[in-house]
Amino acid sequence: ESPSIIVHPDYKVAKINDNIYGGFTEHMGRCIYGGIYDPGNPLSDENGFRKDVIEAMKDLNVPVVRYPGGNFVATYHWLDGVGPVENRPKRPELAWLGLEPNTFGTDEFMKWCEVVGTEPYLCLNFGTGTLDEALGWLEYCNSTQDTYYANLRRKNGREEPYNVKYWALGNECWGPWQVEQMTKEDYAKKAYQWAKALKLLDPSIMLILCGETGYSSWDYYVLKECVTWSVHGLGGDRTKSLIDMHSIHVYTADKEHLANATAPRGAERAIQMASALIDLARIENGVPETVPRQTICFDEWNVWDPVRAPGELGAEEKYTLSDALAVAVFLNGFIRQAKDMGMANIAQSVNVISPLMTTKDGIIKQTIWWPLLLFSKYMRGHSVAVNVRAPEYTGRTNPAWIRAAMETPYLDASASISDDGIVSLAVANLSEEKDFEVALQGVTKGEVTVYTVGGENVDVVNTSDEEKVGIKESSWGGEGKFTFGKHSFTLLRWKA
Ligand code: AHR
Repeated sequence: ESPSIIVHPDYKVAKINDNIYGGFTEHMGRCIYGGIYDPGNPLSDENGFRKDVIEAMKDLNVPVVRYPGGNFVATYHWLDGVGPVENRPKRPELAWLGLEPNTFGTDEFMKWCEVVGTEPYLCLNFGTGTLDEALGWLEYCNSTQDTYYANLRRKNGREEPYNVKYWALGNECWGPWQVEQMTKEDYAKKAYQWAKALKLLDPSIMLILCGETGYSSWDYYVLKECVTWSVHGLGGDRTKSLIDMHSIHVYTADKEHLANATAPRGAERAIQMASALIDLARIENGVPETVPRQTICFDEWNVWDPVRAPGELGAEEKYTLSDALAVAVFLNGFIRQAKDMGMANIAQSVNVISPLMTTKDGIIKQTIWWPLLLFSKYMRGHSVAVNVRAPEYTGRTNPAWIRAAMETPYLDASASISDDGIVSLAVANLSEEKDFEVALQGVTKGEVTVYTVGGENVDVVNTSDEEKVGIKESSWGGEGKFTFGKHSFTLLRWKA
């Protein structure tokens, strides 16, 4: 059978939440210091923010950025990072074994978000932090009252509240690397109590529960315990859930190209499994459908192998074309599962496991930058139905269980329609050997704009000297077969 792709622009599957194009900046390696914040560098503005990074973030149109960790947050005391810089304490940092100068903190991050035009998403310290501290941080950020922390914010130069909407109840609290690692029982108990108190202080916020992969006994247990009625207010509010989203993290990588590029199919399966666990918790706890879907917050995802990655922390990944195809498969999965996806945050936004690298003299856009840019620019609006008939990759997958749960065709596709009726079809051809001539149905004849991300072979990388992988733009008449070149990513756009 010859390959074919049928796009159904009239069959909308779900609204795509813009927040799936979110970022993540952690106090880790060169992400904050030397990444987004580089005072004294001629490339920085009066706030010490790198202007080239700001421009890149604006190009990517990043709607929301998670901060300040990650593992870092488990010993972070936000009060260390506010007020006059000369009074801020330096602290030993236990996640990455560095020294935290605290010269960049809450007000600097909020300012940076304003300049970039993005929304902040803060993660609470579930390690050494207390509920009092967490409440203080929420008050500092969001309160308009005449109270201590709101007044401290005013004293530090910010009259208006920041209105931070997204708050995470800890990060990877299940991990053995975590300061104050918890059992699922202990976590659920604490998360429930913190959630209640935080929503008493500010019922408008959205709370994100700390999940694991999405399909573990941790996920199952904490969802069951915490997805319950919102109890703030006398008698509780039976129209709202206490928890608004469930966080999952998946990093993929493999030395062999096809195992590497198909690995994110496992991440897509994780979304489906987490979605089922959320439904189960809702059903068991009688939390009805008034709670909106899009309850998965995939707040760390990317290709990452700390053993292969250079840099002190094994975090300064040098991404190949194979990794760029893997990133396209991740993003196709997010579009296909749009009905469940409330947010996703690539980990991370600058220097650390990131599409964007800084040097003292400028920035490097790595291979994975390009599919991410095309998705963020064009795959917005609604996801639409798409059928793919393509040869199947039948070799080893990573993890091995993907084979049992998902197909892994050489052509991996998703499609969307924008609010102004432009259809976008995203197709990754994972084959190292074969171009595929594909019968495309559902395409309007006339002008089709074609963006292609490819390179000489799957191992090519971008450096400050040479950008081997970028975007090539061309056009196609929309008739006959379309050829998807081997090891490439293609995005086609036409008017419905
Ligand atoms: O993104 C790097 C690290 O990976 C994060 O700090 C942690 O949450 C995860 O283990």
